[in-house]
Amino acid sequence: MDLSTTIAGVRFPSCFMNASGALCVTREELLALGRSRAGAIVTKSMTLEPRDGNSTPRYYGFPGGSINSMGLPNLGYRAYASLIPELKTLGKPVIASVAGLCEDDFPTIAATINEAMPDLIEVNLSCPNIPGKPQIGYDAEASERLLKRVRKIITVPMGVKLPPYFDPAHHAAMGAVISRCGIDFLNLINSVGNGLVVDPEHEVVVIKPKGGFGGLGGTIIKPVALANVRAFWKIFEGRMPIIGTGGVVSGVDVFEHLLCGATAVQIGTVLVEEGVNVFGRLETELAAHLSKKGYKKLEDCRGKLKEL
Ligand code: DHB
Repeated sequence: MDLSTTIAGVRFPSCFMNASGALCVTREELLALGRSRAGAIVTKSMTLEPRDGNSTPRYYGFPGGSINSMGLPNLGYRAYASLIPELKTLGKPVIASVAGLCEDDFPTIAATINEAMPDLIEVNLSCPNIPGKPQIGYDAEASERLLKRVRKIITVPMGVKLPPYFDPAHHAAMGAVISRCGIDFLNLINSVGNGLVVDPEHEVVVIKPKGGFGGLGGTIIKPVALANVRAFWKIFEGRMPIIGTGGVVSGVDVFEHLLCGATAVQIGTVLVEEGVNVFGRLETELAAHLSKKGYKKLEDCRGKLKEL
């Protein structure tokens, strides 16, 4: 079955790709994604300077998902700008994820990365793990200011990675911001920020940074991810491409994201847990599920979730 997809005019050989952060920091990890069945290579969110990130342990997987407080370990934007030409030879789109520790970092990074011509750029407004730095995506005015600044610089398709919202008024407010900023696609959602996982046996937190607080991913966040995909799909009446991220563990999870309106999906927790072979497994599972349901291609179910 054809599982290819198109976002903002860019064709992806498969609708599965890594979520930024999962196995995509180093050249070796990015090349391994290139050699795998992933439909794209997404870089770690990059900052001005290289960073080692927070102290370890900073990722913990458990049966329902994961918690992390990585603290933006990355090679710095100059290194990713140099790697992009090599990554682009691997036969699939390259998505550069741009972050920053303050608003002024974003335009600097965006200018150099745009010159390196990744196929798309994702502007990450939603890193929850830097001590003392609130997520820009929870401040609608700051988000609009920043997106308008980088949109003037970025000439390739530009998307936004948003944090989860939990109130329809917030979906509406951010939808209005997005519609004023020339955004080509959305990536929903980043991790559910600042959860806390407790080890009751040892009466202790499971990760070291920030007293154990960190971003939640995996199965436990799937309903939050689906709600955000659905809410923005409706706001944009199906006309804004959405990458669904959050809680994709099986082919049926992907199917649920498609029904809510996703055009592609990203894999975080289970990519970290299983490695790049997860992409082949998910392709097989999704193809089997679509056939069983009588769907011939992805578009046939996109957004088709029924209401009671
Ligand atoms: C990190 C986590 C995120 O959710 C994000 O969007 C960017 C960076 C991190 O801790 O490295």
